[in-house]
Amino acid sequence: MGRAVVGVAVGLAAVACTVAAVAVGRRMRSRGKWKRVVRVLREVEEGCESSVGRLRQVVDAMAVEMHAGLASEGGSKLKMLLTYVHNLPNGTEKGTYYALHLGGTNFRVLRVHLHGQQSSLLEHEVERQPIPQHLMTSTSEDLFDFIASSLKEFIEKEGDGSELSLDRRELGFTFSFPVKQMSVSSGILIKWTKGFSIVDMEGIDVPGCLQEALTRKGLDMKVAALVNDTVGTLALGHYHDSDTVASVVVGTGTNACYLERVDAIIKCQGLLTTSGYMVVNMEWGNFWSSHLPRTSYDIDLDSESPNPNDQGFEKMISGMYLGDIVRRVILRMLLESDIIGPISSKLSMPFILRTPMMSAMHEDDSPDLREVARILKDILEIPEVPLKLRKVVVKVCDVVTRRAARLAAAGIVGILKKIGRDGSGGITGGRRSDMKMKRTVVAVEGGLCSSYTLFREYLHEALNEILGEDIAKHVILKVTEDGSGIGAALLAASHSSYNLDTVQML
Ligand code: BGC
Repeated sequence: MGRAVVGVAVGLAAVACTVAAVAVGRRMRSRGKWKRVVRVLREVEEGCESSVGRLRQVVDAMAVEMHAGLASEGGSKLKMLLTYVHNLPNGTEKGTYYALHLGGTNFRVLRVHLHGQQSSLLEHEVERQPIPQHLMTSTSEDLFDFIASSLKEFIEKEGDGSELSLDRRELGFTFSFPVKQMSVSSGILIKWTKGFSIVDMEGIDVPGCLQEALTRKGLDMKVAALVNDTVGTLALGHYHDSDTVASVVVGTGTNACYLERVDAIIKCQGLLTTSGYMVVNMEWGNFWSSHLPRTSYDIDLDSESPNPNDQGFEKMISGMYLGDIVRRVILRMLLESDIIGPISSKLSMPFILRTPMMSAMHEDDSPDLREVARILKDILEIPEVPLKLRKVVVKVCDVVTRRAARLAAAGIVGILKKIGRDGSGGITGGRRSDMKMKRTVVAVEGGLCSSYTLFREYLHEALNEILGEDIAKHVILKVTEDGSGIGAALLAASHSSYNLDTVQML
């Protein structure tokens, strides 16, 4: 009997030991997995490091590349394109004009009424719709027929259009892609960006395609101005505030334009404008510098994109790509750590995690990160993610967005440096003069600036860090909405065929 009791006791002890050993083993394994999660996070943090020192190097590189792009055609990855816009709207424009805006994700039709007096009297109606995915890779005829039909429907809703005489219908066309302009109303597409790829269009006159589609739809309208979205944004910014000298778009794609002295545009000798200035479309999305903090995720994203080696800056900053960088980090984290076991194939699908979803996770302020859990489950099919891991996902979104906003800030300061508005223009003979820093407004537009609060906060923070507070207080970022479209209508008004174009070549 005694022996039997001892035997049972020994048996129980052995079981207890095994259970404990299994538990310890499990804990160790889970600790090992967790360590691997943290290691991936630390690597991303290091790779995306954007100290103020590094940002200042990016500022200098941007200013140097701007000079190079203005000096000769192909002299830099920055195309520094002429826009033939030399007088920005000032509030005296009058009449009713239409605008079409083909951006990266949405298409907009607008009608703008200009009263010719004060900026506050500007009214507009707008209709937005997503661009059908298939049209982005179809034919130019399909794309422009869609645009012309949308405009036609918009006009038909006006009724008989009696308030507008038909022969004065002019429009501004915002085409948010790189275009080599020959005049303010003509230009050829250089290259598609943002996932568009309609091969028959590259090298073709853009307003010509639109004009043909308008004729096919029986619309008698004239394209008075062809503008990049940054140029439209600058035009509206300047209309409201004449201290506006540059504009930046951070939406699906990213870009900037600014007012440059024509004598600084060396690649185009003999250019004369009445104002002595011209708006230059930088196409900064294609900027590249070895100082940019690039990670293996950026390299993979680029090599798998339809335009490898192009738009490097854009791929680190804009809405089309940020969500996908985050997706790639989460994928590697889960694969390398095996922390939640097998993962759904959804996580391997490029662009499945769109930036608005990513910003919703980033800005989730619920204590248990409910929105993060929902998006991981609904979009990426990763159910029941522990809170600790959800926090890591938020951190990844933070790292990627912070880098993007800080790089955009460095780009802005690069422009300010080029035009002598970064506060360093006062240094003469090695001594800082007392020259007064001019109030400088930069119009900003695009989903990341208007709808992503943390992106905007990081942008301001970096601007202050790079410039220092004394200088930064003179630099105002003004967020505009629909500026790219309204600005195109304003430019159509100031470049209407009823006015004289005053750009000349000697
Ligand atoms: C285009 C630019 C455009 C920017 C913002 C870029 O992909 O190349 O022309 O201004 O996106 O929409």
